[in-house]
Amino acid sequence: MKKQLIKRVQRLPKGMCLFGVIGLALLFIGCGKVGEKPSITQEPLPYKMDALKPYISDQTMRVHYGKHYTGYVDKANQLLKGGAFEDKTAEEIIVLTAGKEEHTAIFNNVAQAWNHAFFWKCLKPDGGKVDGKLADLIIKSFGSFDTFKQNFLEAAKSQFGSGWTWLVLDGEKLKIITTANADTPIAHGLKPLFTVDVWEHAYYLDYQNRRADFVNDVLDHLADWDFVAFQLKSTEK
Ligand SMILES: [Fe+2]
Repeated sequence: MKKQLIKRVQRLPKGMCLFGVIGLALLFIGCGKVGEKPSITQEPLPYKMDALKPYISDQTMRVHYGKHYTGYVDKANQLLKGGAFEDKTAEEIIVLTAGKEEHTAIFNNVAQAWNHAFFWKCLKPDGGKVDGKLADLIIKSFGSFDTFKQNFLEAAKSQFGSGWTWLVLDGEKLKIITTANADTPIAHGLKPLFTVDVWEHAYYLDYQNRRADFVNDVLDHLADWDFVAFQLKSTEK
């Protein structure tokens, strides 16, 4: 009796190991393949949720980043799972699905995920200061920084409904454009350098209907011109 008990105790670690292996295998089956990555990854916010106060509140950021952006990333990955675009980059998917009615849902969610990831990087606390080559190019393209700012504000105000206002590189010069809903310059072969999200969810809690005030505050206090300069430099051969 005593010997049997000792044998059982000696066998216990082996049994526990077996259960452990089965448990781990079930965990991996439940989570998909080991090492499997979603097609569209959620970019971490490059600053704290409350870092852009008082111009963008942490309440807005929690809803905008945590709900809207996360929603686009999750939906994009649901739509892409097991499909023809699963192994493509977001930029490739945008180009391949733009203007194709059968891929509207994929385009909208992937483009919105891309636009938002880009937008977070266009902002920083204590931003708004531009200098160097970029300042020279803005003056060359628009006449002065004030003219650029007024044109950007006018474009943002004139975008009917939801969309984005962009600074893009068009040949040797800079250009301001707007896109509606999820549309994005990379779907049109343009190089985006800077953007402001003008969907109401970007500003309504802080500014209600005052879109121009929101865009003005972004340009004066939050625009990360170092990021824009880096985007511009990446186009140099
Ligand atoms: Fe947004």
